[in-house]
Amino acid sequence: MKIAVLAGDGIGPEIVAEAVKALRALGLSMEFEPALVGGAATDATGDPLPAATLALCKAADAVLFGAVGGPQYDALPRPQRPEQGLLRLRKELGLFANLRPALIYPELAAASTLKAEVVAGLDLLIVRELTGDIYFGQPRGIRRLDDGQREGFDTMRYSESEVRRIGRVAFEAARRRSRRVCSVDKANVLETTQLWREVMTELASEYPDVALSHMYVDNAAMQLLRNPRQFDVMVTGNMFGDILSDEASMLTGSIGMLPSASLDADGKGLYEPIHGSAPDIAGKAVANPLATILSAAMMLRYSFGQEEAAGRLERAVAKVLAQGWRTADIAAPGERAVGTPAMGDAVVRAL
Ligand code: IPM
Ligand code: MG
Repeated sequence: MKIAVLAGDGIGPEIVAEAVKALRALGLSMEFEPALVGGAATDATGDPLPAATLALCKAADAVLFGAVGGPQYDALPRPQRPEQGLLRLRKELGLFANLRPALIYPELAAASTLKAEVVAGLDLLIVRELTGDIYFGQPRGIRRLDDGQREGFDTMRYSESEVRRIGRVAFEAARRRSRRVCSVDKANVLETTQLWREVMTELASEYPDVALSHMYVDNAAMQLLRNPRQFDVMVTGNMFGDILSDEASMLTGSIGMLPSASLDADGKGLYEPIHGSAPDIAGKAVANPLATILSAAMMLRYSFGQEEAAGRLERAVAKVLAQGWRTADIAAPGERAVGTPAMGDAVVRAL
């Protein structure tokens, strides 16, 4: 198992170190190859996705990713911005299927800003399309209008085949869960998502055992707060999925708990926590490494078929939470919070 390790910026190196520690503790035969990405890569090479990093990721069996970005990079021209490193990597590796589970651990129900009775037992999977939509659509840019002012423009677009392949991922995932798919769109306003809805409806006939429903994205944002447990699998486009998955993370108490997998057509994947680089707490060793450790568990499951090891890692995380280990983001008022390495060590001991 050859794993490219792209720690990136901000808290990235701190949390990735704990995930590597946990993976090593499993005693499997794994090789870890570090490489630069994001702002760290721009600083060193002028490119947020250097050719050597891309080549390593293509050759590796899976990519373990930290986070990219930071305020010091915000003024750079877009091609050099850290986020471009991640977006290009997703595109170059064909990682079109982004799985973002939101699971509530019983001990953390009180950490959510929502009432415990609303979120208790939550088990939701957001399937986000990751290589299309307004994120990648052309044309885009900032242009000068005849009247002298500037205009910004981006293009939302989805082809039928793009919708169908992410739809299949969602229906297949639902078959392993509660067999319900909610497709999220804005078909009342946007042609792109009208087509999205039509294709999802066609596809549903191939999955008679799965119930498909449709929801407008504004309503979905509201329903996630009103009654999140109504959802099993949510499938949506790149931008809506970006927004809804951040929202869903807070149902679980902290964005510091949510892992993700970004998969290509053959199950090769990039695994990253859904939170960002958190520049405000970078270097302080207080970040929560659990989302990255849970991402490593997804890697074992989806890229390596190591269901047993994935389960061990997930159970170790559940155990440290049950034992009362908390980082600052998930500590209730008055509860003692430990730092990043101590949380990683607790997971290793639980293993
Ligand atoms: C995410 C992030 C990225 C995205 C950024 C860092 C480009 O917010 O993975 O959700 O918008 O996809
Ligand atoms: Mg996001």
